[in-house]
Amino acid sequence: MASLLTIYIAWFWTLFLISVSANDVSTGGPSSPFPAIFMFGDSSVDNGNNNYLVSFAKANFMPYGINTSWDPTGRFSNGKMTIDLLGELLGHSYLSSFEMTQTQGSNITWGGNYASAATVILDETGRYLGQRITFNEQVRNFQTTMNKLKATMDDMNLSRYLAKFVGIRESWKQRLHKQLSLSLHALGLRKFLLAAVGPLGCIPNQISRGLFPIGACKDDVNMVILFNDRLKSLVDELNTQYNGTSIFVYGNSYAALMQIIQDPNTYGFQATNIACCGIGMFQGRISCLPFEIPCSNRDKYVFWDAFHPSEAMDKILASRAFNGSTSDCYPINVSQMAIMF
Ligand SMILES: *[C@@H]1O[C@H](CO)[C@@H](O)[C@H](O)[C@H]1NC(C)=O
Ligand SMILES: *[C@@H]1O[C@H](CO)[C@@H](O)[C@H](O)[C@H]1NC(C)=O
Ligand SMILES: *[C@@H]1O[C@H](CO)[C@@H](O)[C@H](O)[C@H]1NC(C)=O
Ligand SMILES: *[C@@H]1O[C@H](CO)[C@@H](O)[C@H](O)[C@H]1NC(C)=O
Ligand SMILES: *[C@@H]1O[C@H](CO)[C@@H](O)[C@H](O)[C@H]1NC(C)=O
Ligand SMILES: *[C@@H]1O[C@H](CO)[C@@H](O)[C@H](O)[C@H]1NC(C)=O
Repeated sequence: MASLLTIYIAWFWTLFLISVSANDVSTGGPSSPFPAIFMFGDSSVDNGNNNYLVSFAKANFMPYGINTSWDPTGRFSNGKMTIDLLGELLGHSYLSSFEMTQTQGSNITWGGNYASAATVILDETGRYLGQRITFNEQVRNFQTTMNKLKATMDDMNLSRYLAKFVGIRESWKQRLHKQLSLSLHALGLRKFLLAAVGPLGCIPNQISRGLFPIGACKDDVNMVILFNDRLKSLVDELNTQYNGTSIFVYGNSYAALMQIIQDPNTYGFQATNIACCGIGMFQGRISCLPFEIPCSNRDKYVFWDAFHPSEAMDKILASRAFNGSTSDCYPINVSQMAIMF
C-alpha cells in the first residue's frame, strides 16, 4: 500500500487558502469574512482529488471518515480535516474538491480545494506513488476555475473578488517565493496562510522503523526546523515586499504538534506515537486498510493513520491558526487577517 516515502510527501507540502474581497461578491457561507478560500496541498488537506487519479494514495473507503455523517470522501482522516474545521470557525462553507467542480459542476463561488495526496512542490518527486496532482498542476487547475469565474464576472469584480486570503504549507523557499509572486499573486490572491511542515520524525510511520522510547522522535526532525525557519523568514520578506497590498501568515503547526506530543495529557491525548488505524509496529508500517477496525477512542490519538493527524488533533491546529498567539500564527492570526484590507 502506501509507500514508505509518502510521509515526505504528506508533510513536506503546501496548503494554501486564498480568498478575496468581501463586499463585492457573495460570501463563502453564512458569516464568512472570506468570500472564497482556495486550498493547495498534499494528503493532509486533500478532500477527494485523489479519488480521480490512478494512485495508491487513497482514502475513499471505510474506516476513513468513520467519524463523519457522510460517506468516505477521500479525506485522510477519521473525520474532518484542518481546512474543514478552520472553515467552520470562519463560518465558511466546506470546499468542493477541484475534481468535483470539474466532474459534477459543484459550486466554485466560495472557493475550492486543489490539494492532492502525494503531491510535492517539485514536480519530479512523488512519482512512484502513481498519478498525482503536482503543485504546478494545482495552479493550472486553479486557473481553470478562474476562467470559469471570469465568465460570470467582469474583470474589476473578479480582481476585487480575488483580494483576500490564502494559506500554504511550506516548500523550497525560492520556488515558493516565485510561485507565490508570479502565479498566485498575479492571479489576484492576496491573503496567504503558509503552514509549517509537521514533525516528520514523530509520525508513526517513522517511529515504526526503530525502537524509540515514548515521546521520542527521529532526528530528522531537526532538518524540518531549518526548513520551517526559512518559511517563516519568507513570510517576513513577502510582507515587506507586498506591504499594504497582501498579507502572508506563517502557521506554526510544527510547534503545536510537538507541544502536544511532549505533553499529551494536558491536551486530553493518550497516544502520541501509535496510529489509531494501521498495521505493524506502532500501527505505522502499513497505513489504514479498507475495512480495518480502527481504535475506538479516536479522540485520544494524535495520529489517525501512519501519516496523518486525527480529527481531534486537526481541531487544535485549526483553532490555533484561527485565534492563536504569535507562536502559533505569525505575525497575526487568521481571525486578524480576515479583517484586513
Ligand atoms: C469519533 O468516534 C468515537 C467513537 O464513537 C468517539 O469516541 C469520538 O468522540 C468521535 N470523535 C469525534 C471528534 O467526534
Ligand atoms: C453558487 O452559490 C452562489 C452563492 O450562494 C449562488 O449565487 C449561485 O447561484 C450558485 N451557483 C450554482 C451553479 O449553484
Ligand atoms: C460587478 O459588481 C457590481 C457591484 O457589486 C454589480 O452591480 C455588477 O453587476 C457586477 N458585474 C458583473 C458582471 O457581475
Ligand atoms: C508596512 O508599512 C508600514 C507603514 O508604512 C510600516 O509601519 C510597517 O512596519 C511595514 N510593515 C512591514 C512588514 O514592512
Ligand atoms: C480569541 O482569543 C482571544 C484571546 O485569547 C479570546 O478573548 C477570544 O474569545 C478568542 N475568540 C475565539 C472566537 O475563540
Ligand atoms: C488572535 O487575533 C484576535 C483578533 O481577532 C486577537 O484578539 C487575539 O488576541 C489573537 N489571539 C491571540 C491568542 O493572540
